This record gives sequence, structure tokens and C-alpha cells, in this order.
Amino acid sequence: MAEEEEEESEFSEDESELQDNIYSSPRSGSGPRICKMLEKWVPRASHYFDKEHYCYAGHRIVIQESIDSFGAVVWPGALALCQYLESEQEEINLKGKKVLEIGAGTGLVAIVASILGAFVTATDLPEVLENLEFNISKNTRDIDVPKPEVRKLVWGKNLNEDFPRSTHHYDFVVATDVVYHHTALDLLLATISYLCQPGTVLIWANKFRFSTDYDFLDKISNMFNVTHLAEFPESNVKLFKGTVRKLGSE
Ligand SMILES: C[S@@+](CC[C@H](N)C(=O)[O-])C[C@H]1O[C@@H](n2cnc3c(N)ncnc32)[C@H](O)[C@@H]1O
Repeated sequence: MAEEEEEESEFSEDESELQDNIYSSPRSGSGPRICKMLEKWVPRASHYFDKEHYCYAGHRIVIQESIDSFGAVVWPGALALCQYLESEQEEINLKGKKVLEIGAGTGLVAIVASILGAFVTATDLPEVLENLEFNISKNTRDIDVPKPEVRKLVWGKNLNEDFPRSTHHYDFVVATDVVYHHTALDLLLATISYLCQPGTVLIWANKFRFSTDYDFLDKISNMFNVTHLAEFPESNVKLFKGTVRKLGSE
């Protein structure tokens, strides 16, 4: 109960900042008050929009969302993977493992993975990192779990410099709902290929909507030995794991 009160007061600071923006706008004058507010209000990468509560692995997780970017809301692939990681810890045992998440978004998966004992590096586009860092820090700082690291990783950019393969070997590369209607699918594939070395397990959960999603699965299947781990019919999410194909293997 005490914890809840402390938490509410932290979020309400953000809320009162938003209220300040609304109520500091003039109440009289020519235009309607709401227009004055919109003129004055400047969106920021992680402006507070809403918060969602989740419970995984015995922990209550509060995620701050924003409407400013695709990466600032929780997608169905993230929910499906969290549910799977929580319930199938024998199939995917993250304890003590090095995990790199690409397109980490709000950080929900990274938080759950760290609660399950993984050493997580959560990555995304620069504009998403502020909200990602906020959620990760808020949800892991007071519990005894390995603290996830947050880093910029733009698909296909500076991978050799920022994530050299000689020193950055991951047990798992995790991605949820990174395949959707965007133009960076080839860069995404190249990035996954770069980050997954022999011994790395790719965990990919995605809502399947478009034929391009199946094309991407075909390309992944050419590069990895893929196992279909689970299907979530209510959300159309499919979950796969893959290991790098050895040269010359079928
Ligand atoms: C649909 S959201 C999914 C977010 C999160 N994984 C989830 O399931 O809730 C796609 C994520 O990929 C990230 N992303 C998109 N294009 C990217 C790029 N070129 N490089 C790195 N991240 C990218 C977005 O910022 C966003 O966080």
C-alpha cells in the first residue's frame, strides 16, 4: 500500500506538469482555450500519456506510455513474450544469461527478463531511449535483479563500432513486434544476422498482419534453424526461436 502511494505521487508530478501546461494557457481571449493550449504545448519524446500496470514473475510493473512514437506503447508481441518467458522458464532459462533486446520500446520485456535473472541490454532509436530508461529504472531500481543497460542501436548503423562481435557475444537476442509496416526490414535482418553469433538464440515474437511479415519469416528461416515455440490466437502473435545455421547445413 505504502509502495503504491509513493508510486502514485511520482507519476502525479508528471501529471501536474501536464496540468500546468493546460491551465497556464489563457482562459479568455479570441480562440477556444484548447487551441491556446495546443499552441503552447510542445511534444517531447517521452511526454507522459498513460500508464499501464502488468504483473509478471510475481512483480507489479508500471509502464509509462506516450503517443509520440511506435516505441512508446506496449505491442502485442511484448505481452505474448512476457507471458511465455514467465510460464516457460525451462524452455527459455534466462538466469545469468546475456540478453540483447532490439527495438525494446517501453522496456516491458527487458524488465521481465531482468526479473527472471538476465543481464539485459535494451536498445532502440535515440528518441525512444528517455522513456525506455525511465520505465526500466523505475521498475528495477528497488528490487534485487541485474539492472538492465539502455543503449542506442539503430538497425544497420555503427554496429561494428558500438557492438563489436569480438567483445559483444549474447546468449539471447530478443525482438518483439519489430516487423511491421516500415522500410527498414532489410537493415533489421542484417542487424539480427550481425548480432547473432554461433551459440546465440534469437527469440522473436511478432503479430502477423501482412504478407511481408511472412516474407520476413522466410528470410529468417533461411538464416536460422527456426522453431515455432507458440501461437497466441487472440492477438495473432507467433513466437519463434532460432539458432544460426552452420555453413553447409540444410
Ligand atoms: C512496433 S514497436 C515494438 C516495441 C516493443 N518491442 C514492443 O513489442 O512493445 C517497434 C520498435 O522498433 C523500434 N525501431 C523501429 N525502427 C528502428 C530502427 N531503424 N532502428 C532501431 N529501432 C527501430 C521502434 O522505435 C520501436 O521501439
